[in-house]
Amino acid sequence: MATVQDVAVIALVNQKGGVGKTTTALGLASAAWARRIPSVVVDLDPQGNATTGLGVWEPAATVDEALESDRPGILEDLAEPSGWPDGKGLPPRIVASAPALAGRERQMLSDPVGAQDRLRVALSGHQSLVLIDCPPSLGLLTINALFAADAALVVTEPSAWASDGVSEILRTIDRVDTRKPAGLAVAGVAVNRLARTRDSRYWHEQLITDHGRLVLPPVRLRAAVAEAAARSLPIHALPPRRGAAEACAEFDEIYDRVVGEQRPEDPDGL
Ligand SMILES: Nc1ncnc2c1ncn2[C@@H]1O[C@H](COP(=O)(O)OP(=O)(O)OP(=O)(O)O)[C@@H](O)[C@H]1O
Ligand SMILES: [Mg+2]
Repeated sequence: MATVQDVAVIALVNQKGGVGKTTTALGLASAAWARRIPSVVVDLDPQGNATTGLGVWEPAATVDEALESDRPGILEDLAEPSGWPDGKGLPPRIVASAPALAGRERQMLSDPVGAQDRLRVALSGHQSLVLIDCPPSLGLLTINALFAADAALVVTEPSAWASDGVSEILRTIDRVDTRKPAGLAVAGVAVNRLARTRDSRYWHEQLITDHGRLVLPPVRLRAAVAEAAARSLPIHALPPRRGAAEACAEFDEIYDRVVGEQRPEDPDGL
């Protein structure tokens, strides 16, 4: 299995909706932005929250074209500049979502040749950090992301029975790992929206008890995090306000743990 330090394609997954998959994908893209590390966000969710969070409303191309195509490496041609500011940081590129993705899952099932492998083929030869934001299900779109990824980052909130949901995804990751020649690593369990309530602390402890060292340092519930997404800005570029610097530090820490110290000029790294 690849070590987490080596990975360049990371799928952010949880079958549960609203736990922070997109927020964490954008937080990691923001950490890469601040370090001027080239990255590509692939928005596999028909809701398209990562696409708009990156400031793109009328994409020229979408990831649906990659899933439809059999051409290896096509994803590189579909990536377009995001709307994040240039200058201090390096804006990620985006392979945008499309409403048509919702029907693509069914279509892939009716053409089973390589149904689970289409995104991996589309990504072959990629040259940068790739963050795949998945929809809230363990259907064929998420399975495509897992087959394309070097590592899966499970995102959860510390809420009732979250730990059971994480166990279920870990079993799916394990099944993909055994079926993929290159393997699939677990990058960790990112705990998002940790609040200062007893309930939040209880379920956070439960996650640590059940999943131990897989559990990464938490990202706390902060208005600045939601504001960055709503303004289509990297959190690292948000004007100074309460909690913004702390949120940046939390995403930086997850970035270090998940992506490692990869240097853009290193041909074997990114
Ligand atoms: N740490 C946080 N602090 C404050 N708000 C947050 C935080 N994380 C996420 N949110 C907000 O919670 C909502 C859900 O988050 P997000 O869209 O990232 O979840 P998701 O898992 O991608 O959802 P879906 O499954 O629908 O794609 C968003 O409005 C987001 O701005
Ligand atoms: Mg999302």
